[in-house]
Amino acid sequence: MFEHTGECKTHSMALSTVVVAAAFWSLAIVILGASHVTRTRTHRTADVVKAVLSPRNTEHTAEIRSRVHPHEHFALTPSSAILDPSRHDSFVQDATALIASVSPQQCAGWQRFVKCAEKCTEMFLPSREVDFAAFIQSVTFCIIITGFYGVDPGTLSPIDVAFVTNTLNRHSDSTSRQTPLYPSELDAMRERVCRWVGGERAPQALETILPAYESMWRLTAVTLAYADGNQHMHNAFLDFSENPTQKQFRSFKVKNTRPSVEAIISEVLRLHPPIQRIARKSRHPLWKRLFYPAQEIADIGAVHRSCVYGTRLETFDAMRFHPQHEHPVDMQLLAFGHGGLSCVAREWAPMATALIVAKVVDRVDDVGFVLAGKVFDARMYRNTRIGWDGWVVRKKEREKLVS
Ligand code: HEM
Repeated sequence: MFEHTGECKTHSMALSTVVVAAAFWSLAIVILGASHVTRTRTHRTADVVKAVLSPRNTEHTAEIRSRVHPHEHFALTPSSAILDPSRHDSFVQDATALIASVSPQQCAGWQRFVKCAEKCTEMFLPSREVDFAAFIQSVTFCIIITGFYGVDPGTLSPIDVAFVTNTLNRHSDSTSRQTPLYPSELDAMRERVCRWVGGERAPQALETILPAYESMWRLTAVTLAYADGNQHMHNAFLDFSENPTQKQFRSFKVKNTRPSVEAIISEVLRLHPPIQRIARKSRHPLWKRLFYPAQEIADIGAVHRSCVYGTRLETFDAMRFHPQHEHPVDMQLLAFGHGGLSCVAREWAPMATALIVAKVVDRVDDVGFVLAGKVFDARMYRNTRIGWDGWVVRKKEREKLVS
């Protein structure tokens, strides 16, 4: 009897030790797990950022799965093709084909794109005054949809265009990403795009337009802000508007002392990459995940202001891209990402955006229309979605024109 009681005691002590240990470890796992959910690690050096974006020994499928939604740039919904390994490749192939159809190598396609850029710029010039950001957003959206899908610019109602651009802006804006778009808003956007594009390509058109629109309107706006009031940049874009060829795009000016249009766009992309940060889910085995951050962030904006891009990194100096510059840039920009998931438009988008800038510079020429804004500072405007309050495109009044 006595012996029996002693054994019971030992048993219950062992049991309580197990219970306490289990409770301790459960608590530890919950705490670690909870902190893991929010933990991120940000990388700011070129080599590590490249390694995060182009990891070794990782399958393509796993790479696609590591994309984070909501992302700054893509994917209207969590079920978008760009996040789904079974649909990703065909989606990207279709986007590549659309881009190829209007590339400068396709003479007729590029000529058509140039005409679209002219017509769409004309369409949105104000009868008195228009908000600069809204103007650039409408022009960029229309050039993309008319250029990629052969839509007649005359069929686009400015009110419908404004509805779609405003809704896309709300989607991309970081604060409103906490409250995703309502299904009814998505449907209303899709309905308009289907009406314009028609046919088989309509269902995925909006998903293709989003990354193009989202990056290109901001690159256009910032480039215009730099070019405004700088005669050399202004002239370079006017030359390109008159003669939109690859040769003109790449030509340095005034006996190689002034930047080419390509160099100007590259410098804007360096200082103001539309996608500042690219997030990836960590790829550690389950048990290791507790000890590592859940997300790795590639801070493109920080790398672009690091010494691999030369000196005087906070200053706008497009000549740093001249091959004979005393400290020439020795690394490709990371504005289009790196590795297997990098941008399909990396070759095309700089010249296409330069064309939009050139056509706006050509029309908003200080004679018929003026651009009124503030002084643009390279240290500001990390988030180029905002900061355009007070910027307008204004029609010059007749009397003032005559005097
Ligand atoms: C200035 C213009 C642009 C910039 C700065 C830009 C930037 C980027 C970046 C950083 C990525 C990689 C994201 C990641 O690693 O997760 C990307 C991917 C992508 N971009 Fe762009 N982009 C631009 C224009 C365009 C245009 C015009 C299109 C045309 C449809 C486009 C379509 C795509 C697509 C489809 C991907 C995904 C590629 C894949 O998953 O394999 N982008 N872009």
